[in-house]
Amino acid sequence: MNDHSIRVMIPEEELSARIAELGAQISEDYKGETVFLVCILKGASFFACELAKRITVPVIIDFMATSSYGSGTVSSGEVVVKKDLDLDCEGQNVLIVEDIIDSGNTLNFLSGFFKERKAKSVRMCTMLDKPDRREVDVTVDYTGFTIPDAFVVGYGLDYDQRYRNLPYIGVVDFENK
Ligand code: IMP
Ligand code: MG
Repeated sequence: MNDHSIRVMIPEEELSARIAELGAQISEDYKGETVFLVCILKGASFFACELAKRITVPVIIDFMATSSYGSGTVSSGEVVVKKDLDLDCEGQNVLIVEDIIDSGNTLNFLSGFFKERKAKSVRMCTMLDKPDRREVDVTVDYTGFTIPDAFVVGYGLDYDQRYRNLPYIGVVDFENK
């Protein structure tokens, strides 16, 4: 691993404030309904828990893990389910909660996955969006922050499995030493 340092991009207070806004908006949009919140492991876990605490309509929480192949140079981006839901989502208002949208391949796959499972509705919520790197068009219903193309860590996001526990979003500065 090259030497690197981490610079704060989005402080904890800004994340909390934005998550409260998203929670309020989601509560308004789903008035009279139950939200079936699907947290995509592991990256979205911190964000999903904080978001769920700010939603005032009934919430069911489940977890799923995916992995995407074809990162880097290959743009086909095949996505595989590594851990399926525990619950049945048929007839549910599924809200997919992701950490970050990069190529868009993961969300694109998940959108089809939940339609096949006969969800009543499918919406997407992401903590961060990096639109510069999009390979497939995806419609995102709720976005925390739109950020420039940089490698970020913290609040669930990792660099080689490290830094998920940082309470803020940081940019990794790589030093070529
Ligand atoms: P994609 O949209 O299918 O390319 O996949 C996005 C996934 O790539 C996210 O769920 C993250 O796990 C990972 N990812 C993308 N950009 C970053 C980053 O800047 N830091 C950490 N993980 C990232
Ligand atoms: Mg992820």
